Amino acid sequence: MSATISTIAHYIPSTIIDNSYFENYLDTSDEWIVKRTGIKQRRFYLEGPTSDMIIPAAKKVLAKRKIKPKEIDCIIVCTVTPDYIFPSTACVVQEKLGCKNAWGYDMSAACSGFLFGLQTAASFVNSGLAKKILLCGADKMTSILNLNDRNQAVLFGDGAAVCIVEESDDPKLGIIDADLHIDGEGGKYLKKVAGGSFLPSWNNTIKPEDHYVHQEGQAVFKNAVSEMSNSVQTIMKRNKISAKNLTWLVPHQANLRIIKAVGERVGIPDEKVAITVDKLGNTTAATIPTALSILNEERKLRRGDDIILTAFGGGFTWGAIYLRWNSL
Ligand code: ACO
Repeated sequence: MSATISTIAHYIPSTIIDNSYFENYLDTSDEWIVKRTGIKQRRFYLEGPTSDMIIPAAKKVLAKRKIKPKEIDCIIVCTVTPDYIFPSTACVVQEKLGCKNAWGYDMSAACSGFLFGLQTAASFVNSGLAKKILLCGADKMTSILNLNDRNQAVLFGDGAAVCIVEESDDPKLGIIDADLHIDGEGGKYLKKVAGGSFLPSWNNTIKPEDHYVHQEGQAVFKNAVSEMSNSVQTIMKRNKISAKNLTWLVPHQANLRIIKAVGERVGIPDEKVAITVDKLGNTTAATIPTALSILNEERKLRRGDDIILTAFGGGFTWGAIYLRWNSL
């Protein structure tokens, strides 16, 4: 048996924030942002919580697959910006969609969330634990972003994407292989410290910056390039995939320079590398499924296409997944 992404859709908020927005109040410039990150604009979701971005994408996948909410038997929401600490965003989504027969939970693996969620969902399908899983990658990064810090304000955006993971009609197609890792030693370089049990939000020693992303950009950059490259190479070697027969590399979208460096290291030419960071910035757990969904909408995915997904994020967390495209 093999599990596949049978249907995919995304939600992009309507509010466009281009680099001139930050030029108005921060010591930054469009030129710096484009040169150092490749980001020209991003979307901010001003209307509601993360679950409200998931719902339109989820409704699209249910409609495209022509199934009722009751047929979903598991919901996994990959996010670092859940609506609440509890109940889980999966519970919120279940109620809003009416997926009465689903169990589920949230998964916290930062920018690698979708990869970790996809491997989990595939394992559930392969073991028979679930049949139709609603897998969501969604983040409202503006809820934890310090918009007065130029080191982070310009990098992130909000967004969501949702897919259904279920049994493939061809065991040779679907999710084939995964190489996933965590390394807690990297935790100090990328974190949000307040609001958990370490520093509860009522604690009076809390500083405003404790509520926001803390990141040491260069350490994250270097580790992201080397670990994503290592994981992609592991997957290519193990599955005898060459740059020639790979159709798409779909990397996490944090910085165009990171993406280019990974592409160069693994020998995948630019035209085979999916890019959304220029228009959407870094939407954390949403970047990879959004990029896949956009490729799908643009009719750039064919049955049997060899695709490698790769991500790196807070934790540290990272990895790569190999799939042969098979939408049902
Ligand atoms: N505009 C102008 N100058 C800036 C800006 C900005 N928006 N941001 C930083 N700078 C300045 C810095 O303050 C620094 O100034 P200084 O030398 O006076 O101190 C200077 O630019 C150089 O800073 P560097 O950190 O060396 O710049 P770098 O080229 O490394 O780019 C960046 C910084 C864009 C953050 C880069 O390191 C990066 O993309 N790192 C990875 C970040 C990332 O991927 N984060 C998300 C991880 S995923 C997740 O899990 C959420």
